[in-house]
Amino acid sequence: MDDRTAGELLSRPMTRREAVATAFALGAALAWPLRGERRSLGTWRECRDCYPQGVASGDPSADGVILWTRRPPTTEGSASRLLVEIAADEQFRNVVSSSHATVSAATDWTCRVLVAGLGPAREYWYRFTDERGFGSRVGRTLTTPAPSDRRPVQFAFVSCQNVQLGACNAYRRMIWEDEHRAPADRLMFVLHLGDFVYEIVWYPEDRPQGYYARHIRDIVRYAHGEQHSDFHVPTTVDDYRALYRAYLLDPDLQDARARWPFVPVPDNHEFSWKGWQSQESFGATLPAQTRKVAANQAWFEYQPARVVRPGAPNVDEFHAPPVTDAPLRQLDEQGLGVDPDNLAAIRSLRVYRSLRLGANAEMILTDNRSFRSEPLTTRAEAAPFRPTSFPGVVSEDVTAVLDAGAAAPNASPPATIRFNGVDVPNPRRTAPPLSTLGATQKEWFLDRLRAATTPWKLWGNSVAMLDWRTDFQNLPDDVGTHWPTTGYALFGDDDWSGYRHERAEIFDFVERNGITGLATVCGDRHAFLAGVLSSTLPPHRFHPIAAEFVTGSISAPGLFEAMEFGLPRDHPLRAVYVYQPPGGAAAEPAINLSMMHGVRSSLELQRTHDVRQALAASNPDVAPHLSFADTGGHGYAVVRVAPEDLTVEFVCIPRPIERSASADGGPLAYRVRHRVRLWGAGETPKVVRASREGVLPLVL
Ligand SMILES: [Fe+2]
Repeated sequence: MDDRTAGELLSRPMTRREAVATAFALGAALAWPLRGERRSLGTWRECRDCYPQGVASGDPSADGVILWTRRPPTTEGSASRLLVEIAADEQFRNVVSSSHATVSAATDWTCRVLVAGLGPAREYWYRFTDERGFGSRVGRTLTTPAPSDRRPVQFAFVSCQNVQLGACNAYRRMIWEDEHRAPADRLMFVLHLGDFVYEIVWYPEDRPQGYYARHIRDIVRYAHGEQHSDFHVPTTVDDYRALYRAYLLDPDLQDARARWPFVPVPDNHEFSWKGWQSQESFGATLPAQTRKVAANQAWFEYQPARVVRPGAPNVDEFHAPPVTDAPLRQLDEQGLGVDPDNLAAIRSLRVYRSLRLGANAEMILTDNRSFRSEPLTTRAEAAPFRPTSFPGVVSEDVTAVLDAGAAAPNASPPATIRFNGVDVPNPRRTAPPLSTLGATQKEWFLDRLRAATTPWKLWGNSVAMLDWRTDFQNLPDDVGTHWPTTGYALFGDDDWSGYRHERAEIFDFVERNGITGLATVCGDRHAFLAGVLSSTLPPHRFHPIAAEFVTGSISAPGLFEAMEFGLPRDHPLRAVYVYQPPGGAAAEPAINLSMMHGVRSSLELQRTHDVRQALAASNPDVAPHLSFADTGGHGYAVVRVAPEDLTVEFVCIPRPIERSASADGGPLAYRVRHRVRLWGAGETPKVVRASREGVLPLVL
């Protein structure tokens, strides 16, 4: 089994020989079923302090899962060899599999075990015990259904947990709700779409005023950190490891990892807020090959997943290739640096992979940061096109031109771009279009999409594709601020919004090949969004080809919060972002209204405090693709995949500034369900509201 196939799941149970090869390629010990069931032979007695980061499992298949723990030296002594046991019952009366794993400083005392030969759609319990009988907490895990199983599958997806700035109340609620569900309706796994950690860290003394209305928790200090502005970033593998160790002390995150298998993909903060390929753009672009490798190593050590390390590493250690920090000198046609140090760094871990979820779905996971060409956000040539008087937005039309470069429609890139009444030379007229996936991953991705035989193809996409925009071109003159183009405003260009050419290429492929049932589930936006995907929106062609659902963050601040605290009260555009109700009531996210109905609706709401008058000013062309947009919500999403329809529930909690002391994780803000029925070739998907509980924040 080579590197290319070891991370892929087979559509049948693995043989023992395949399991041995797979475990080797994944850097895991192997646990193969015992003959007959038997009682534990271990002398397990729980010692949670011996395993301070708890236990975890990841990447379930129909016949197995990967188990994880960390057993560092503690006051109870050190350990080097752990017994791992997997049982069919929580009391470990029926142990079905066991094995041994080693821990050492080389892996920061973490270990991973591939358990193979298990039954499909089953619940198992596992635990680790050291040489002296000190045992981990008991973890629970699940296998996915057999490929022929048509029963509905339920899973949660999450992203963006900032443990320094907030609490993981969302996980506590997720656990509480799952415990109260009928067994057949329980979540099968948690898809984590990245920003599992935030590598930018404030030391409380650097920011005594806190962050917005949040206080800063002193969770980690980097031994080799580097300061930018008022925050610190990691520079070595020890720094990145310290970050994971700190995050995993969070009791709610730890309990969630012990209750369900996680399916993790990294986004940017696992490496760098301003990272792309092996570079970091804090002002100037800094070569950061050694940091990319360090980030990959820590991710590998702390995330149990079926990810492949190239080369011939020792059994369970990460192979850190020797690299030098160097600027990218040679780019291919997709903007990928082909310099050896860059390639070695970004290929030190391959995280893109796919999972099968019974008969209903295949889930395809991509890496949206390691191969992307430099985003417009940090490119010097894009800087003159920033609408500086308009917070958090760029021009949709200008972004389309800059992104496409020489590949503009009809092979006719404009010579100039009209901006603020001036014709500015197009700086990317002869440049290749931007790419998020890179050529190799894109080929793999499109192959998987075309080959999928399940009705649903779910794309675990760390960054979102739905355009979120508003119509600043329709701003009334009396506001006194003038939008620099005649087209729409986009909220950011660091995700697929800024890689529109490649997005359209993928959508064209989907349409050409008659692929239906494509739904992307996304993170990164720190907002709940539901809608349908179209390459272009009015005044251009609106032609949906897929559905998309974006989850709010677990705890990281979102766009509304940033505007609520960042925009001065007398800012001329404040009403477009923040609605201030009369009588001193709490501010509300006008930005939701601006996204779905346009700026005139928000201005009218602030002027009249009347929702009907606000809706009367709606521009129906702003968001024909959106069914839902809340830029202030936090929580998680639950997907139910049935053969004929897909339902996504957004579970929104109040801003999680403090940890909730209650068993349910605190109150619910709202719960809303959207549904999309499976569509046929030639039909377009439709996302409809199925139910609602609680009050939606200016989602009208
Ligand atoms: Fe995030």
